Amino acid sequence: MRALPLSFAVALSLLLAMGGLLLASRSAQAQQPSSPPASGSAGLTQSDIARMLPATDMGADAARNADPHLRPVNDSPATPFDAASIPANPLAPEAQAVGAKTCIACHALENVQASHTLHVASFRVGTARTGPQAACEACHGPGSEHAKNPTARGSIIGFTHGADTAPETQTTVCLGCHAGGARQHWLGSVHQERGLSCSDCHNPMARMSPEGVLAKPSINEVCATCHQDILAKFNRRSHMPLPEGQMACTDCHNPHGTLTRPLLKTDTVNETCYTCHAEKRGPFLFEHAPVRENCLNCHDPHGSNQQTLLVAPLPMLCQQCHTMTRHPNDLQVPTNLGTGPTPDERLMGRSCLTCHANVHGSNNPSGSRFHK
Ligand code: HEC
Ligand code: HEC
Ligand code: HEC
Ligand code: HEC
Ligand code: HEC
Ligand code: HEC
Ligand code: HEC
Ligand code: HEC
Ligand code: HEC
Ligand code: HEC
Repeated sequence: MRALPLSFAVALSLLLAMGGLLLASRSAQAQQPSSPPASGSAGLTQSDIARMLPATDMGADAARNADPHLRPVNDSPATPFDAASIPANPLAPEAQAVGAKTCIACHALENVQASHTLHVASFRVGTARTGPQAACEACHGPGSEHAKNPTARGSIIGFTHGADTAPETQTTVCLGCHAGGARQHWLGSVHQERGLSCSDCHNPMARMSPEGVLAKPSINEVCATCHQDILAKFNRRSHMPLPEGQMACTDCHNPHGTLTRPLLKTDTVNETCYTCHAEKRGPFLFEHAPVRENCLNCHDPHGSNQQTLLVAPLPMLCQQCHTMTRHPNDLQVPTNLGTGPTPDERLMGRSCLTCHANVHGSNNPSGSRFHK
């Protein structure tokens, strides 16, 4: 991209030519607004394309027209497949759409990469109320100012870290088509408040991941760009099979925002755990209060150097809460240790669990002490 294949003069004349072309094709499309797009391009099948027409799109159009930031720049009514549904760039309010061919004239390399991606491929076959000519500006905003003077800061909506475009403008572009659903609570989420943009985790310009349009090959790698410490905990002795590729951070978290801290997909920690460990939900005849309250009283979800993700070794785990109960409270004295004259069974074998085997709760009529 950095090496300009064309001089600005050539690009400008191309731009003028494109403008005419664009208008012509736009009115042609307005005549047949609901004709289904042709399939076949970029290896997409007809059913791929059908799937690519999200039901929420009508709502997205309505939102676009209501929100001044999203209103089409030329204010013409947004008919389906009208290429005018292009996000406004607050840093270049006068800019007009110029069409993808103009962009490609200078950004041939990006075009080759982007042509393999879900978005550009599907825009080119006419999904999401855009046409092939909107394949770049549907995200980058109208490009006339930028094409005239490419080095003018902010002249185009940029998503890379050096770009002048505010994160809010960037996310507004993506939410213009992807509001709602998992992103219902994006506004006010910790990631939004800390200034993240969609493009911190997603890269629609290159095909980096098999699905999800991610910026790294996998979800866990995406999260690890900033949460390396958490991913590292999964290397501990006991962990759920996330490094083995059987789980992802998003099994428990919704990075787009939730009503719960910290970005949990369900209302409580326990509900999250029950989605996979349903047998721990109960109900039990005899409940163990700390289990019902919060699994994290005893477990660390990201990994632990104790057995079974425990936050402390046995018997100390239990002794945090149980010391002065029916067992004599003289447990850790030299005579009771495994090497002493009268080793205490509470310190041997599976410690407290040797006898209290069902710590999560018991359904046995005589299981009130979780022995059975
Ligand atoms: C003009 C509408 C439009 C805009 C703007 C847009 N997208 Fe999309 N996006 C689509 C369409 C159409 C698809 C493919 C259909 C589908 O959801 O399966 C898609 C797919 C996706 C997917 C993959 C969905 C999946 O199920 O795998 C992600 C992730 C995504 N877009 C993120 C973004 C991000 C990030 C931005 C902003 C940089 C953005 N989109 C801007 C229309 C849009
Ligand atoms: C006349 C050639 C030319 C045309 C036409 C052109 N660009 Fe650019 N574009 C450039 C150059 C040169 C840069 C690098 C500017 C810089 O580094 O300051 C650039 C940078 C960009 C960037 C990065 C901006 C940033 O802040 O990170 C984006 C995005 C971009 N162009 C998109 C587009 C789109 C979309 C179009 C079509 C509407 C387009 N360009 C048309 C030459 C062009
Ligand atoms: C779905 C939204 C979307 C579409 C469609 C799209 N882009 Fe992008 N573009 C992005 C995002 C997001 C980034 C930032 C990627 C990153 O983080 O590296 C970007 C980055 C760029 C850059 C800057 C690259 C750099 O390394 O600085 C250029 C130039 C660019 N796009 C041009 C284009 C052109 C040309 C097209 C049409 C062929 C296009 N884009 C289509 C969203 C889009
Ligand atoms: C902190 C990282 C992160 C940020 C920020 C982020 N995403 Fe995502 N997004 C993901 C991950 C990871 C997935 C894959 C989730 C999965 O497969 O369960 C995803 C999935 C998606 C999907 C496809 C699945 C679905 O729910 O329909 C869309 C669309 C999407 N994101 C759009 C966006 C938009 C728009 C933004 C900005 C407002 C955004 N994302 C910001 C990480 C992020
Ligand atoms: C670009 C950096 C970045 C990426 C990528 C990222 N995060 Fe974050 N995340 C943050 C920041 C910043 C915070 C706020 C930390 C704080 O306040 O201490 C945060 C906080 C969180 C929190 C804690 C929320 C709370 O309420 O305390 C969770 C959970 C989280 N992120 C999950 C994820 C997941 C899952 C992914 C991958 C899909 C991800 N993050 C990707 C930057 C990132
Ligand atoms: C099995 C479910 C589960 C998985 C998988 C998971 N988390 Fe968590 N995560 C949680 C729970 C539950 C909490 C709440 C911890 C608390 O309240 O102390 C949490 C808390 C967090 C926090 C808040 C700060 C902290 O240290 O408690 C961050 C950040 C976070 N997770 C990131 C991640 C990332 C990144 C991944 C993937 C590498 C991941 N999580 C995988 C369940 C999970
Ligand atoms: C997406 C599914 C999923 C969710 C959600 C989940 N787990 Fe797991 N968990 C697993 C899998 C898979 C294993 C491994 C089972 C095996 O190896 O037999 C596991 C194992 C465990 C183990 C045993 C680890 C060991 O070393 O033997 C504990 C303890 C555990 N999970 C606690 C939790 C807690 C607490 C939560 C809620 C914060 C939770 N899990 C949420 C899937 C999940
Ligand atoms: C009072 C402490 C405590 C609480 C609270 C607790 N656990 Fe456990 N958990 C343990 C102990 C101790 C073990 C080891 C049991 C063993 O080795 O027989 C264990 C083992 C497990 C295991 C692996 C072995 C098995 O039984 O499947 C899973 C999964 C598990 N816990 C899930 C949960 C979930 C989900 C919650 C919340 C509903 C929870 N735990 C709450 C103490 C607790
Ligand atoms: C976070 C505090 C906490 C931890 C840790 C904890 N417990 Fe409990 N446990 C309680 C509470 C509270 C009760 C309910 C006491 C009551 O009903 O009087 C209870 C009840 C019990 C009972 C039944 C006692 C009765 O009077 O009915 C047994 C047995 C028990 N716990 C064993 C264990 C074992 C074994 C461990 C370690 C694996 C453990 N507990 C860890 C808080 C805890
Ligand atoms: C050798 C078997 C055995 C071991 C090991 C053991 N317990 Fe017990 N525990 C019992 C029996 C039997 C009872 C029931 C006494 C009764 O009901 O009168 C009991 C009762 C309890 C009670 C209920 C006491 C009360 O006041 O009602 C608690 C709490 C308890 N044990 C905690 C623990 C803890 C914590 C450990 C580990 C440090 C432990 N136990 C190790 C056999 C054992």
